[in-house]
Amino acid sequence: MPNDIIFEPLAFRNLTIKNRVFRSNMSGRFDNYDGSGNLARINWELKFARGGVGAIISSFVPVTIRGRIIPNYATISSDDRVPFWRELGRQVHQHDCKFILQLSHSGRQRDIPGIEYEKALSSTSKRDPLHGFECESMSTDQIRDTVGAFADGARRAREAGLDGVELHGANGYLITQFLSSGINDRKDDYGGPLRNRARFLLEIVEAIRATVGRDFHLQVKISATDFNDALIKTEKPGNVVRDTVQVCQWLEQAGVDALHVSSGSFFPHPRNPPGDFPLDELEKTYDSLISSGMLTLRNYLLIRGRLTGRVFKRRWERARGDRAKIQGLNLPDTKKIKQAVGVPVICTGGFQDAPAIRQAITSGGCDAVSIARPLIANNDLVEMFRRGQDSPDVPCTYCNRCLVNAPENPLGCYEESRFNSRQEMVDEIMSVFNPPPFR
Ligand SMILES: Cc1cc2nc3c(=O)[nH]c(=O)nc-3n(C[C@H](O)[C@H](O)[C@H](O)COP(=O)(O)O)c2cc1C
Ligand code: SF4
Repeated sequence: MPNDIIFEPLAFRNLTIKNRVFRSNMSGRFDNYDGSGNLARINWELKFARGGVGAIISSFVPVTIRGRIIPNYATISSDDRVPFWRELGRQVHQHDCKFILQLSHSGRQRDIPGIEYEKALSSTSKRDPLHGFECESMSTDQIRDTVGAFADGARRAREAGLDGVELHGANGYLITQFLSSGINDRKDDYGGPLRNRARFLLEIVEAIRATVGRDFHLQVKISATDFNDALIKTEKPGNVVRDTVQVCQWLEQAGVDALHVSSGSFFPHPRNPPGDFPLDELEKTYDSLISSGMLTLRNYLLIRGRLTGRVFKRRWERARGDRAKIQGLNLPDTKKIKQAVGVPVICTGGFQDAPAIRQAITSGGCDAVSIARPLIANNDLVEMFRRGQDSPDVPCTYCNRCLVNAPENPLGCYEESRFNSRQEMVDEIMSVFNPPPFR
């Protein structure tokens, strides 16, 4: 298609991307227990670089060991991590693809904490209401140290020759735990009114700019609407899009170059990733979380119960909303943010078909889209669009089996119906270990 908006470059203040499709963040337990990187992660990222995306936004990369969700995610918590990220970036760049690293801190939302830190940090000392992950409220010294850890992470990403960083300010992790009126119950300068709740995030932005300067790409992933009461009606609803529009304006004034819009104040959330609740698969993998939270054993038994499992599934899918509207689910909120800021805005959530992506951009809803699961299903989705195909022959079904396998098994597509056989599916999942680290 001539003049296809999908293949028009997108210029940020410090960075230009060759097209409008970003590989959205995807974690997977590919690395070593201590957070040092592994060749499997490089193999994984190269699948998408070869498939034609303009940029890859990394997995959740913890800025401190205490801030990880689960062991075996590559971290950026010390200077000795830099060579790994440099090598990953070098190989991704060979495919004319940019690499943006997601600077992250779990806060209380830790699925499997590992052995180093028993208790998580958070804006609050209240455990999370869904899994019962326990935490302690951060002191101002701990806040200051964590702000510094984000700035150090940005410096290391720059030293590694990567193309920019993204702050994980979405989906219930530490920054959301400060931003959200549904979670933050502090009485000091970091709690209460929106400006106070945004202080932690704005201090991180300021510290990063003071450390790496103005000419290194910095974007923020943010949940436009929290839907904090999506599953537990006694919870407060949390931030609405009006709050997030204001936060995004502050972020722009503070020197952020782009915004990446998601939704939900916990993860996973019925609206993120938007799709099904694969009960049969969850029965096999939720057990790895049982010792992590005060409510995880209860949840496991509920999931295993024939009736209770179905009730939970129905509640989840009702909170998600109409299945037919999964593609571009966050677009209405993203458009409100785009209309209020001058920097480019990326929208995540359900995108899989070229016409829907074109429409999202040309209608002024966003400047680019980010894609996760449809790219797991079809690594070369962007190349398909380039060849003139509007949608993949064997699309992602939004079944979310990849998601619920991620804490226990290698990340990949677990929707057997997309493959000719179970063996073919397993071979594809295991292909991330090829080439092997020692040859
Ligand atoms: C297995 C899996 C892992 C994910 N890991 C992350 C992550 O580390 N950081 C993040 O910001 N989002 C993460 N997400 C959310 C995606 O980046 C994306 O925003 C979301 O899935 C919606 O996009 P999609 O409909 O194209 O999948 C993950 C999603 C999946 C399915
Ligand atoms: S398991 Fe495969 S089909 Fe299902 S949501 Fe994940 S990528 Fe899509």
